[in-house]
Amino acid sequence: MPQFNETELTAAVIRSFEQTPDRRVKFLMEELVRSLHDFVRKTDLTFDEWGYAIDFLTRVGQKCSASRQEFILLSDVLGVSMLVDAVNHRDRDGATETTVLGPFYVGEHKPMPHGADISAGIPGERMFVQSRVTDLRGKPLGGAAVDVWHADDHGYYDSQKPAYKTQGPSSRARFITDADGRFFFRTILPCSYPIPTDGPVGEMILQTRRHPMRPAHVHFLVDAPGYEPLVTHVFIEGDKYLDSDVVFDRERRRSR
Ligand code: BEZ
Ligand code: FE
Repeated sequence: MPQFNETELTAAVIRSFEQTPDRRVKFLMEELVRSLHDFVRKTDLTFDEWGYAIDFLTRVGQKCSASRQEFILLSDVLGVSMLVDAVNHRDRDGATETTVLGPFYVGEHKPMPHGADISAGIPGERMFVQSRVTDLRGKPLGGAAVDVWHADDHGYYDSQKPAYKTQGPSSRARFITDADGRFFFRTILPCSYPIPTDGPVGEMILQTRRHPMRPAHVHFLVDAPGYEPLVTHVFIEGDKYLDSDVVFDRERRRSR
């Protein structure tokens, strides 16, 4: 059994991937091992800390279900999701900024006529939304599907409420842009809301004395035939969490 010192151990693990047929997989595995080993060396990770991390990740996995993805939430609050989005959307001068889809896109967006009230009668301050979808040169994109979804004025999405299964969607709809690329609808103002805190990710947020809030926003998923889909959202001016978004969306925008 060979005895490795700390650096030789890293090199040996990296060499173990030598025969990986896919070059990209080989590269990703090598870099992952390099970064993980660097972390362990830099922090002098103890057995207890390593055990805690294993237990934490186990609990993150156990919290996942068909309707709950705790690993994506973990990636969101560590800024990894926004970073993946950023490195995949470089060089988009003039294009609308992108963001993560988030856990409340549930894919059940019923087409509605322009001008419809999508709030399904829930109380709140009324809001009118209108916008236009164009290509980078300003050419209107008619026939584009625009899915919209947002929280209510208590900070809950329809899919988080027990009534969702019986009463169907509210503050969630699909519009098809007209020949001029336009769409418009009525609804209520959303409010800022906490990400789900009843799992290990929430525990980590609270233990590290971070707050779990996202500033109020409306999500848009725009899918125009022949174009890459766009996931974006619009924040509500004046929200007190605009500069401390728990998923770091605003931080990325500021650094551009
Ligand atoms: C959201 O905006 O819906 C969201 C995004 C990431 C994590 C949690 C919520
Ligand atoms: Fe959201």
